[in-house]
Amino acid sequence: MRPQPADDQERLNLIFETLERINELSATHTVLVEGVKDIAALKNSGVEAQFFCVQSGGGPVRAAEALWKSGRSAIILTDWDRRGNTLAEDLKMNLVTLGVKFDRDIRADLSFLCKPYAKDVESLDSVILHLQKRILESQRGCNMKGKVVVVEGIDGSGKSTLCSRLAERLEGKGYRVKMTAEPTHDRIGAIIRSGSIPGISQSTEALLFIADRNDHTEAMERWAEDGAIVICDRYFASTIAYQSSGLDGTDVDRGWLLSMSERFVDKPDLTILLDIDPGISMARVSSRGEEISKFEKLEFLRRVREEYLRLAEEFGFEVIDASEDPESVVEEAMRRIGEVL
Ligand code: TYD
Repeated sequence: MRPQPADDQERLNLIFETLERINELSATHTVLVEGVKDIAALKNSGVEAQFFCVQSGGGPVRAAEALWKSGRSAIILTDWDRRGNTLAEDLKMNLVTLGVKFDRDIRADLSFLCKPYAKDVESLDSVILHLQKRILESQRGCNMKGKVVVVEGIDGSGKSTLCSRLAERLEGKGYRVKMTAEPTHDRIGAIIRSGSIPGISQSTEALLFIADRNDHTEAMERWAEDGAIVICDRYFASTIAYQSSGLDGTDVDRGWLLSMSERFVDKPDLTILLDIDPGISMARVSSRGEEISKFEKLEFLRRVREEYLRLAEEFGFEVIDASEDPESVVEEAMRRIGEVL
Protein backbone atom coordinates (compact mmCIF):
# COMPACT_ATOMS: atom_id res chain seq x y z
CA MET A 1 0.00 0.00 0.00
CA ARG A 2 1.29 3.46 -0.85
CA PRO A 3 1.41 6.07 1.89
CA GLN A 4 -1.26 8.77 1.59
CA PRO A 5 0.15 12.25 0.82
CA ALA A 6 1.00 14.18 3.99
CA ASP A 7 -1.34 17.08 3.20
CA ASP A 8 -3.46 18.76 0.51
CA GLN A 9 -0.45 20.58 -0.96
CA GLU A 10 1.50 17.36 -1.42
CA ARG A 11 -1.54 15.65 -2.95
CA LEU A 12 -2.02 18.56 -5.36
CA ASN A 13 1.68 18.57 -6.34
CA LEU A 14 1.54 14.84 -7.02
CA ILE A 15 -1.59 15.28 -9.17
CA PHE A 16 0.13 18.00 -11.20
CA GLU A 17 3.28 15.87 -11.55
CA THR A 18 1.17 12.98 -12.84
CA LEU A 19 -0.60 15.24 -15.35
CA GLU A 20 2.78 16.59 -16.43
CA ARG A 21 3.79 13.02 -17.28
CA ILE A 22 0.91 12.93 -19.78
CA ASN A 23 2.22 16.13 -21.38
CA GLU A 24 5.72 14.64 -21.57
CA LEU A 25 4.38 11.54 -23.35
CA SER A 26 1.99 13.47 -25.59
CA ALA A 27 4.25 13.46 -28.67
CA THR A 28 4.01 9.67 -28.91
CA HIS A 29 0.95 8.72 -26.83
CA THR A 30 -2.80 9.20 -27.31
CA VAL A 31 -4.94 9.47 -24.17
CA LEU A 32 -7.86 7.03 -24.17
CA VAL A 33 -10.76 8.50 -22.18
CA GLU A 34 -14.41 7.53 -21.83
CA GLY A 35 -16.19 10.71 -22.94
CA VAL A 36 -15.88 14.35 -24.00
CA LYS A 37 -16.35 15.68 -20.47
CA ASP A 38 -13.14 13.86 -19.49
CA ILE A 39 -11.29 15.75 -22.21
CA ALA A 40 -12.68 19.08 -20.96
CA ALA A 41 -11.59 18.30 -17.39
CA LEU A 42 -8.09 17.27 -18.49
CA LYS A 43 -7.69 20.37 -20.67
CA ASN A 44 -8.91 22.57 -17.79
CA SER A 45 -6.21 20.92 -15.68
CA GLY A 46 -3.42 21.83 -18.10
CA VAL A 47 -3.15 18.64 -20.18
CA GLU A 48 -2.27 19.19 -23.84
CA ALA A 49 -2.50 15.90 -25.67
CA GLN A 50 -4.21 13.91 -28.39
CA PHE A 51 -7.39 12.27 -27.07
CA PHE A 52 -9.60 9.39 -28.18
CA CYS A 53 -13.11 9.00 -26.71
CA VAL A 54 -13.62 5.28 -26.32
CA GLN A 55 -17.41 5.54 -25.95
CA SER A 56 -18.13 7.75 -28.96
CA GLY A 57 -15.24 6.25 -30.94
CA GLY A 58 -16.75 2.78 -31.14
CA GLY A 59 -15.42 1.03 -28.05
CA PRO A 60 -12.14 -0.66 -27.08
CA VAL A 61 -11.71 -2.55 -30.35
CA ARG A 62 -11.92 0.60 -32.48
CA ALA A 63 -9.68 2.49 -30.04
CA ALA A 64 -6.99 -0.16 -30.30
CA GLU A 65 -7.31 -0.32 -34.10
CA ALA A 66 -7.01 3.46 -34.41
CA LEU A 67 -3.79 3.44 -32.38
CA TRP A 68 -2.37 0.49 -34.25
CA LYS A 69 -3.01 2.30 -37.56
CA SER A 70 -1.49 5.56 -36.34
CA GLY A 71 1.56 3.84 -34.86
CA ARG A 72 1.06 5.73 -31.57
CA SER A 73 1.10 4.36 -28.03
CA ALA A 74 -1.75 4.70 -25.52
CA ILE A 75 -2.36 6.14 -22.09
CA ILE A 76 -5.37 4.34 -20.64
CA LEU A 77 -7.29 6.89 -18.62
CA THR A 78 -10.77 5.55 -17.93
CA ASP A 79 -12.66 6.32 -14.69
CA TRP A 80 -11.61 4.49 -11.54
CA ASP A 81 -15.05 3.09 -10.75
CA ARG A 82 -16.10 -0.46 -11.55
CA ARG A 83 -17.20 0.36 -15.11
CA GLY A 84 -13.96 2.22 -15.77
CA ASN A 85 -11.93 -0.72 -14.46
CA THR A 86 -13.72 -3.14 -16.81
CA LEU A 87 -13.21 -0.79 -19.74
CA ALA A 88 -9.52 -0.42 -18.87
CA GLU A 89 -9.18 -4.23 -18.88
CA ASP A 90 -10.93 -4.45 -22.28
CA LEU A 91 -8.65 -1.79 -23.69
CA LYS A 92 -5.58 -3.53 -22.34
CA MET A 93 -6.64 -6.81 -23.96
CA ASN A 94 -7.23 -5.23 -27.36
CA LEU A 95 -4.02 -3.19 -27.26
CA VAL A 96 -2.00 -6.27 -26.33
CA THR A 97 -3.61 -8.24 -29.17
CA LEU A 98 -2.52 -5.63 -31.71
CA GLY A 99 0.88 -5.10 -30.11
CA VAL A 100 0.21 -1.44 -29.20
CA LYS A 101 2.29 -0.13 -26.28
CA PHE A 102 0.36 1.48 -23.43
CA ASP A 103 0.69 3.14 -20.03
CA ARG A 104 -1.63 2.28 -17.13
CA ASP A 105 0.45 3.74 -14.30
CA ILE A 106 -0.84 7.27 -14.84
CA ARG A 107 -4.39 6.06 -14.34
CA ALA A 108 -3.41 4.13 -11.21
CA ASP A 109 -1.64 7.19 -9.78
CA LEU A 110 -4.52 9.56 -10.49
CA SER A 111 -6.97 7.05 -9.10
CA PHE A 112 -4.97 6.79 -5.86
CA LEU A 113 -4.63 10.59 -5.52
CA CYS A 114 -8.21 11.55 -6.46
CA LYS A 115 -10.19 8.63 -5.05
CA PRO A 116 -11.03 10.30 -1.72
CA TYR A 117 -12.81 13.04 -3.70
CA ALA A 118 -14.02 11.58 -7.01
CA LYS A 119 -14.19 8.40 -9.02
CA ASP A 120 -14.17 9.85 -12.50
CA VAL A 121 -11.83 11.70 -14.81
CA GLU A 122 -14.47 14.35 -15.57
CA SER A 123 -14.21 15.56 -11.94
CA LEU A 124 -10.46 16.06 -12.09
CA ASP A 125 -10.64 19.85 -12.44
CA SER A 126 -13.17 20.03 -9.56
CA VAL A 127 -10.83 17.98 -7.36
CA ILE A 128 -7.97 20.38 -8.15
CA LEU A 129 -10.23 23.39 -7.45
CA HIS A 130 -11.33 21.83 -4.18
CA LEU A 131 -7.76 21.15 -3.01
CA GLN A 132 -6.63 24.65 -4.04
CA LYS A 133 -9.48 26.16 -2.07
CA ARG A 134 -8.67 24.12 1.04
CA ILE A 135 -5.01 25.09 0.82
CA LEU A 136 -5.90 28.78 0.52
CA GLU A 137 -8.36 28.49 3.39
CA SER A 138 -5.84 26.89 5.68
CA GLN A 139 -3.27 29.55 4.75
CA ARG A 140 -5.72 32.35 5.43
CA GLY A 141 -7.55 30.66 8.27
CA CYS A 142 -10.96 31.41 6.79
CA ASN A 143 -13.74 29.89 4.71
CA MET A 144 -13.74 31.22 1.14
CA LYS A 145 -17.03 30.59 -0.58
CA GLY A 146 -17.35 31.86 -4.15
CA LYS A 147 -20.22 33.79 -5.73
CA VAL A 148 -22.83 33.16 -8.39
CA VAL A 149 -23.32 35.92 -10.95
CA VAL A 150 -26.09 35.49 -13.52
CA VAL A 151 -26.31 37.41 -16.79
CA GLU A 152 -29.75 37.70 -18.38
CA GLY A 153 -31.09 39.44 -21.47
CA ILE A 154 -32.91 38.93 -24.75
CA ASP A 155 -31.16 37.28 -27.70
CA GLY A 156 -28.48 39.53 -29.18
CA SER A 157 -28.14 41.61 -25.99
CA GLY A 158 -24.47 40.64 -25.72
CA LYS A 159 -24.65 38.16 -22.84
CA SER A 160 -22.08 35.72 -24.20
CA THR A 161 -19.54 38.45 -24.95
CA LEU A 162 -20.08 39.98 -21.54
CA CYS A 163 -19.68 36.61 -19.78
CA SER A 164 -16.37 35.91 -21.55
CA ARG A 165 -15.04 39.40 -20.88
CA LEU A 166 -16.04 39.21 -17.21
CA ALA A 167 -14.26 35.87 -16.88
CA GLU A 168 -11.08 37.35 -18.40
CA ARG A 169 -11.21 40.39 -16.17
CA LEU A 170 -11.88 38.43 -12.98
CA GLU A 171 -9.19 35.85 -13.76
CA GLY A 172 -6.82 38.74 -14.39
CA LYS A 173 -7.54 39.86 -10.83
CA GLY A 174 -6.63 36.41 -9.51
CA TYR A 175 -10.14 34.98 -9.02
CA ARG A 176 -10.98 31.47 -10.09
CA VAL A 177 -13.89 31.62 -12.52
CA LYS A 178 -16.30 28.95 -13.73
CA MET A 179 -18.33 29.90 -16.81
CA THR A 180 -21.60 28.10 -17.40
CA ALA A 181 -24.90 28.56 -19.25
CA GLU A 182 -28.52 27.47 -19.55
CA PRO A 183 -29.81 25.53 -21.32
CA THR A 184 -26.80 23.45 -20.25
CA HIS A 185 -24.92 21.07 -22.52
CA ASP A 186 -25.78 18.27 -20.10
CA ARG A 187 -28.33 15.49 -20.67
CA ILE A 188 -31.55 17.52 -20.43
CA GLY A 189 -30.02 20.72 -21.78
CA ALA A 190 -28.81 18.79 -24.81
CA ILE A 191 -32.35 17.57 -25.54
CA ILE A 192 -33.63 21.16 -25.45
CA ARG A 193 -30.78 22.45 -27.61
CA SER A 194 -31.19 19.69 -30.19
CA GLY A 195 -34.80 20.78 -30.82
CA SER A 196 -35.42 17.08 -31.22
CA ILE A 197 -39.00 17.12 -29.93
CA PRO A 198 -41.08 18.60 -32.76
CA GLY A 199 -44.29 20.38 -31.76
CA ILE A 200 -43.35 20.37 -28.06
CA SER A 201 -45.82 22.41 -26.01
CA GLN A 202 -44.71 25.55 -24.19
CA SER A 203 -45.44 24.06 -20.77
CA THR A 204 -43.55 20.83 -21.51
CA GLU A 205 -40.61 22.84 -22.74
CA ALA A 206 -40.79 25.02 -19.60
CA LEU A 207 -40.61 21.86 -17.48
CA LEU A 208 -37.55 20.72 -19.42
CA PHE A 209 -35.83 24.08 -18.80
CA ILE A 210 -36.67 23.72 -15.09
CA ALA A 211 -35.49 20.10 -14.95
CA ASP A 212 -32.22 21.09 -16.60
CA ARG A 213 -31.90 23.89 -14.02
CA ASN A 214 -32.43 21.52 -11.11
CA ASP A 215 -29.22 19.59 -11.91
CA HIS A 216 -27.41 22.76 -12.89
CA THR A 217 -28.23 24.56 -9.63
CA GLU A 218 -26.60 21.73 -7.68
CA ALA A 219 -23.50 21.93 -9.84
CA MET A 220 -23.29 25.72 -9.43
CA GLU A 221 -23.58 25.38 -5.67
CA ARG A 222 -20.65 22.97 -5.66
CA TRP A 223 -18.49 25.27 -7.78
CA ALA A 224 -19.26 28.24 -5.54
CA GLU A 225 -18.59 26.10 -2.44
CA ASP A 226 -15.20 25.38 -3.94
CA GLY A 227 -14.47 29.09 -4.06
CA ALA A 228 -15.06 29.85 -7.76
CA ILE A 229 -16.91 32.85 -9.11
CA VAL A 230 -19.60 31.22 -11.21
CA ILE A 231 -20.73 33.24 -14.22
CA CYS A 232 -23.98 31.84 -15.55
CA ASP A 233 -25.42 32.87 -18.92
CA ARG A 234 -29.23 32.71 -18.25
CA TYR A 235 -31.04 31.32 -15.22
CA PHE A 236 -34.61 31.14 -13.93
CA ALA A 237 -35.65 34.58 -15.21
CA SER A 238 -35.20 33.26 -18.77
CA THR A 239 -37.93 30.69 -18.20
CA ILE A 240 -40.35 33.23 -16.75
CA ALA A 241 -39.59 35.86 -19.40
CA TYR A 242 -39.58 33.55 -22.44
CA GLN A 243 -42.15 30.91 -21.57
CA SER A 244 -44.75 33.38 -20.25
CA SER A 245 -44.47 35.70 -23.24
CA GLY A 246 -46.71 33.91 -25.70
CA LEU A 247 -44.46 32.40 -28.31
CA ASP A 248 -46.76 31.30 -31.20
CA GLY A 249 -49.73 32.62 -29.22
CA THR A 250 -49.37 30.04 -26.42
CA ASP A 251 -48.03 31.26 -23.12
CA VAL A 252 -47.56 29.49 -19.83
CA ASP A 253 -49.10 30.96 -16.69
CA ARG A 254 -46.56 33.28 -15.06
CA GLY A 255 -47.61 32.43 -11.51
CA TRP A 256 -47.28 28.71 -12.19
CA LEU A 257 -43.82 29.23 -13.71
CA LEU A 258 -42.72 31.28 -10.72
CA SER A 259 -43.96 28.76 -8.17
CA MET A 260 -42.46 25.84 -10.12
CA SER A 261 -39.11 27.63 -10.44
CA GLU A 262 -38.93 28.60 -6.79
CA ARG A 263 -38.27 25.03 -5.68
CA PHE A 264 -35.34 24.49 -8.02
CA VAL A 265 -33.54 27.81 -7.84
CA ASP A 266 -30.96 29.23 -5.43
CA LYS A 267 -30.82 32.99 -5.19
CA PRO A 268 -27.74 34.14 -7.11
CA ASP A 269 -25.46 36.70 -5.43
CA LEU A 270 -26.05 39.03 -8.37
CA THR A 271 -28.19 39.03 -11.52
CA ILE A 272 -27.27 41.45 -14.27
CA LEU A 273 -29.97 42.19 -16.84
CA LEU A 274 -28.66 43.47 -20.17
CA ASP A 275 -31.52 45.63 -21.36
CA ILE A 276 -31.79 46.50 -25.03
CA ASP A 277 -34.38 47.32 -27.65
CA PRO A 278 -35.14 44.11 -29.61
CA GLY A 279 -34.86 46.08 -32.87
CA ILE A 280 -31.16 46.70 -32.10
CA SER A 281 -30.48 43.22 -30.70
CA MET A 282 -32.04 41.51 -33.72
CA ALA A 283 -29.96 43.65 -36.08
CA ARG A 284 -26.90 42.36 -34.18
CA VAL A 285 -28.04 38.76 -34.50
CA SER A 286 -28.62 39.04 -38.26
CA SER A 287 -25.33 40.90 -38.81
CA ARG A 288 -23.55 37.91 -37.25
CA GLY A 289 -25.17 35.81 -39.98
CA GLU A 290 -26.64 33.49 -37.33
CA GLU A 291 -29.73 31.42 -37.91
CA ILE A 292 -32.77 33.06 -36.28
CA SER A 293 -34.25 30.68 -33.68
CA LYS A 294 -37.95 30.37 -32.90
CA PHE A 295 -37.30 32.49 -29.79
CA GLU A 296 -36.01 35.41 -31.80
CA LYS A 297 -39.12 36.98 -33.27
CA LEU A 298 -39.28 40.75 -32.83
CA GLU A 299 -42.75 41.17 -31.30
CA PHE A 300 -42.18 38.21 -29.02
CA LEU A 301 -38.86 39.66 -27.85
CA ARG A 302 -40.57 42.96 -27.04
CA ARG A 303 -42.80 41.09 -24.60
CA VAL A 304 -39.82 39.15 -23.22
CA ARG A 305 -38.02 42.45 -22.60
CA GLU A 306 -41.05 43.88 -20.75
CA GLU A 307 -41.22 40.76 -18.61
CA TYR A 308 -37.49 40.91 -17.85
CA LEU A 309 -37.87 44.52 -16.65
CA ARG A 310 -40.76 43.49 -14.44
CA LEU A 311 -38.70 40.66 -12.95
CA ALA A 312 -35.79 43.05 -12.43
CA GLU A 313 -38.01 45.19 -10.20
CA GLU A 314 -39.40 42.22 -8.32
CA PHE A 315 -36.11 40.41 -7.74
CA GLY A 316 -33.68 43.33 -7.61
CA PHE A 317 -31.67 42.60 -10.76
CA GLU A 318 -29.00 45.11 -11.78
CA VAL A 319 -30.13 46.57 -15.12
CA ILE A 320 -27.43 47.72 -17.56
CA ASP A 321 -28.12 49.51 -20.85
CA ALA A 322 -26.75 47.03 -23.40
CA SER A 323 -26.95 49.42 -26.35
CA GLU A 324 -23.79 51.12 -25.00
CA ASP A 325 -20.46 50.05 -26.48
CA PRO A 326 -19.36 46.60 -25.22
CA GLU A 327 -16.39 47.86 -23.18
CA SER A 328 -18.48 50.28 -21.14
CA VAL A 329 -21.00 47.49 -20.50
CA VAL A 330 -18.11 45.36 -19.17
CA GLU A 331 -16.89 48.25 -16.99
CA GLU A 332 -20.36 48.80 -15.56
CA ALA A 333 -20.85 45.08 -14.88
CA MET A 334 -17.42 44.82 -13.19
CA ARG A 335 -18.34 47.77 -10.97
CA ARG A 336 -21.52 46.02 -9.83
CA ILE A 337 -19.76 42.69 -9.32
CA GLY A 338 -17.13 44.50 -7.27
CA GLU A 339 -19.89 45.44 -4.84
CA VAL A 340 -20.79 41.81 -4.08
CA LEU A 341 -17.25 40.42 -3.93
P1 TYD B 1 -29.17 31.21 -25.70
O1 TYD B 1 -28.72 31.96 -24.51
O2 TYD B 1 -29.43 32.01 -26.95
O3 TYD B 1 -28.13 30.04 -25.98
P2 TYD B 1 -26.94 30.01 -27.04
O4 TYD B 1 -26.47 31.43 -27.21
O5 TYD B 1 -25.93 29.12 -26.38
O6 TYD B 1 -27.57 29.40 -28.25
O7 TYD B 1 -30.47 30.37 -25.31
C1 TYD B 1 -31.15 29.65 -26.30
C2 TYD B 1 -32.62 30.03 -26.33
O8 TYD B 1 -33.31 29.38 -25.26
C3 TYD B 1 -32.87 31.50 -26.15
O9 TYD B 1 -33.53 32.02 -27.28
C4 TYD B 1 -33.75 31.61 -24.95
C5 TYD B 1 -34.29 30.24 -24.75
N1 TYD B 1 -34.56 29.91 -23.32
C6 TYD B 1 -35.87 29.84 -22.88
O10 TYD B 1 -36.81 30.07 -23.65
N2 TYD B 1 -36.12 29.51 -21.58
C7 TYD B 1 -35.13 29.25 -20.69
O11 TYD B 1 -35.40 28.95 -19.51
C8 TYD B 1 -33.77 29.33 -21.16
C9 TYD B 1 -32.64 29.03 -20.21
C10 TYD B 1 -33.53 29.66 -22.48
